[in-house]
Amino acid sequence: MTQVPRSIDETETLLSEGGYVADRSLATVLFLALRMRRPLFLEGEAGVGKTEIAKVLADRLGRPLIRLQCYEGLDVSTALYEWNHAAQMIEIRLREASGDTARDAMRSDIFSERFLIRRPVLQALEGDPGRAPVLLIDELDRADEAFEAFLLEVLSDFQVTIPELGTIRATQIPIVIVTTNRTREIHDALKRRCLYHWLDYPDAARELEIVRRKVPTARADLSAELVAFVQRLRGEDLFKAPGVAETLDWATALTELDAVALDPELITDTLGVLLKYQDDIARIGQSEADEMLRAIRREHASA
Ligand SMILES: Nc1ncnc2c1ncn2[C@@H]1O[C@H](COP(=O)(O)OP(=O)(O)OP(=O)(O)O)[C@@H](O)[C@H]1O
Ligand SMILES: [Mg+2]
Repeated sequence: MTQVPRSIDETETLLSEGGYVADRSLATVLFLALRMRRPLFLEGEAGVGKTEIAKVLADRLGRPLIRLQCYEGLDVSTALYEWNHAAQMIEIRLREASGDTARDAMRSDIFSERFLIRRPVLQALEGDPGRAPVLLIDELDRADEAFEAFLLEVLSDFQVTIPELGTIRATQIPIVIVTTNRTREIHDALKRRCLYHWLDYPDAARELEIVRRKVPTARADLSAELVAFVQRLRGEDLFKAPGVAETLDWATALTELDAVALDPELITDTLGVLLKYQDDIARIGQSEADEMLRAIRREHASA
């Protein structure tokens, strides 16, 4: 498929075919972003499936995925374009050697598309007609504010100006997904260009479905128990609660260990798959794990 979905149901199906289990509100906002050709701004905790949406979307729509991973110090030359200085130098030397030094001609040749290195944002604007790429601007909160200002311009007009070449307009408005972990707030001006969605941890039923889809070898009863445990763990006072990625890792780890059910020792022995801070791991000792497990089984029995 290269056409965008025509309904919320179709959007849900598209994600599901890509192995992504979305709730209705996510399918709705994604559908609207695609129809209205607006960037989708996804905010949420780590490991809740923000990046994955862009990957699944590109895959299922048969579009190229262009990823811009943000970091502190990311600048326009890394995001947009850069001149290939080495190739330009060689061209100049070759021309000098052959006595061809007409300055104006040389200048316009040297600053032509042949020597332009296209970075992700430019690539996204120059996509094939009918196959607008998916541009993933990942973890925008890590970039600095100057970059945000640049992005604001791109997302407003979908065009960029390269002084030596002129203005390049998007042949097709790309499908833009912006993600942030909310380590800092992103400016309202940028958010206003986008449709916003807060991606929360899934509820138990949805998380169990994700495990079923992503770790098909995990036993059904074990999966239900481990999902219930992770859900309960998220309610504890932790520095960093486990995301869906960690649940999937845990399901894989426990399956590798041929576990048939959880027990306190197994939990504490494998806690490093779920929790990545020593203070958090220290909080969940065997007695806490035992208590949580009992509570889960009591709830299960009374359900
Ligand atoms: N709803 C979902 N359906 C299917 N898989 C999911 C879902 N949510 C998360 N996952 C899986 O969880 C893992 C982590 O997802 P992803 O990398 O997209 O998280 P993220 O929100 O981008 O995290 P981070 O903020 O750390 O980058 C992936 O392997 C993805 O397949
Ligand atoms: Mg991510």
